[in-house]
Amino acid sequence: CGIVGYAGPKSAVDVVVDGLRRLEYRGYDSAGVCVVADGHLSVAKRAGKLANLEKELAEHPLPVSGLAIGHTRWATHGGPTDTNAHPHLSANGRVAVVHNGIIENFAQLRSELAEVGITPVSQTDTEIAAQLLGLEVEKGAGLSEALRAVCNRLEGAFTLVAVDAEQPDTVAAARRNSPLVVGVGDGENFVASDVAAFIEHTREAIELGQDQVVTITPSTVTVQTFAGEPATVRPYHVDWDLSAAEKGGFDWFMRKEIYEQPKAVADTLLGRHDASGALRLDEIRISQAELRAVDKIIVIACGTSFYAGLVAKYAIEHWTRVPCEVELASEFRYRDPIVGPTTLVVTISQSGETADTLMAIRHAREQKAKVLAICNTNGSTIPRESDAVIYTHAGPEIGVASTKGFLTQLVACYLLGLYLAQVRGTKFGDEIAVLIEELDKIPAAIEGQLGDMAGVLQLAADFAEAPSVLFLGRHVGYPVALEGALKLKELAYIHAEGFAAGELKHGPIALIENELPVFVVMPPQGRDMLHDKVISNIQEIRARGARTIVLAEEGDADAGPYADVMITLPKVPTLLQPLVAIVPLQIFACELATRKGHDVDQPRNLAKSVTVE
Ligand code: G6P
Repeated sequence: CGIVGYAGPKSAVDVVVDGLRRLEYRGYDSAGVCVVADGHLSVAKRAGKLANLEKELAEHPLPVSGLAIGHTRWATHGGPTDTNAHPHLSANGRVAVVHNGIIENFAQLRSELAEVGITPVSQTDTEIAAQLLGLEVEKGAGLSEALRAVCNRLEGAFTLVAVDAEQPDTVAAARRNSPLVVGVGDGENFVASDVAAFIEHTREAIELGQDQVVTITPSTVTVQTFAGEPATVRPYHVDWDLSAAEKGGFDWFMRKEIYEQPKAVADTLLGRHDASGALRLDEIRISQAELRAVDKIIVIACGTSFYAGLVAKYAIEHWTRVPCEVELASEFRYRDPIVGPTTLVVTISQSGETADTLMAIRHAREQKAKVLAICNTNGSTIPRESDAVIYTHAGPEIGVASTKGFLTQLVACYLLGLYLAQVRGTKFGDEIAVLIEELDKIPAAIEGQLGDMAGVLQLAADFAEAPSVLFLGRHVGYPVALEGALKLKELAYIHAEGFAAGELKHGPIALIENELPVFVVMPPQGRDMLHDKVISNIQEIRARGARTIVLAEEGDADAGPYADVMITLPKVPTLLQPLVAIVPLQIFACELATRKGHDVDQPRNLAKSVTVE
């Protein structure tokens, strides 16, 4: 969910609704806003996308006020209805609350409320917090004191933002395991789920720790622990370019972000190595001795980031000879994994807030493992709770389906693999320098690909009605196939699956029928013995009537005869091939979904950052 709170001289409704627009990628099932004016709370909320709320506000404007909170929701408890939309009010009309997360002991708290005669009007866990807060302020507590008292009774993960009708200059907010940042302006202050909500107004931010409450007025920011002690916080400057949060002439953020990939990759490589090619990753706060002692690496992530992790395994094991496992974050801690002080856990998360990944990190650290985070979001929770971090410099990614986030994660994984090889001496300076040089050529290679996408756009037109699409790959082409299929599922809502090409004959080949489109990622020719094996795999499916779309390196003469359609990839080393092979598949999914009339940036049922387990 996306959350915003504002205290200042501007029209608070406008500031908050603008902020919600920039956070809408975090959830878009419903949206709402509440202002405090003349000792009263006024609320507007609507099911569906933010546009529905904006229409409501245009027809029935809220009173002018300099204090407001707002919310855009990804439903957990209760369906996406007007009633279940946030903000939620207490029965006495004193407080309004917006919430992100899940309050796990809500059933018990609900029965306690019933005992004092309060029956919630919605099905949400959030309203329970609002009702408890209403009772606290009625007893005479100030808003932040009341919020601390309530937070101490809640179990689960939450960010709560609240206003009190009788404190017209104060917004109070609290967090436990769920994101919240403060924007410090000149005579105005903000709280939000992420900085995108307020970078238009201020670039000075404060990162909050766990179990902290922040109270803002137009001129003050006060942070305390849940126990009421003054808290230590980290101020930081946001250097994201505001234009990154605008579509800049593209129809979708996603398409724009695909086209930003050359820059995103170049920015992620920038400053990571010296002229001789020796790697410098100064955010790694794990000593070289500790890295040399590592005897197992476990990469943990969700969704697209997990597929970046699958690629990392091939590179890291090849370059470092350290065993590397890759695991879905949501599975990791529940299977009692073997993790210890000599395990390096690498987590990959674009947002830095994914709850499954965060919980996996906590479990790994309890077992004394070192945790290194690959993350795109400064000030987010995952890097904060890790021993080291490699930031990907993709800039804000707004499209819910990850594109430039994925490419920069791959780059960070390669850098990490090479760094470990350098530290452990399994690759020597000149070999690393050659690979770095190859990485440095990738932005231009992608630029070239993006300049010539007519064939891929045509494919999307040709296959717009296909009920199912398969993707095949081997070695690092296998995760590319998985990610290609995921993009199509997420955006076009059609059945799509990725397979290891060699595994097809062991079952999935039964799915092949006449005219079924099958994308095949071809390993580079000559340098790779897998090339000929994949040629055989293509023959197996063609013989059964599939239409083959083959992604092969330029000059790959052997692949041509087996392809109904050829998509040419630039020549790059085998391990780096995912960086170029995924690009046409991203464009294909984006274009096909556009043709189907879907909302590419906000696909149904998804959210960019899932902060519940
Ligand atoms: C959500 C998004 C996916 C994303 C995944 C992991 O499910 O819809 O696109 O890949 O989270 O996100 P993270 O921020 O941890 O990389």
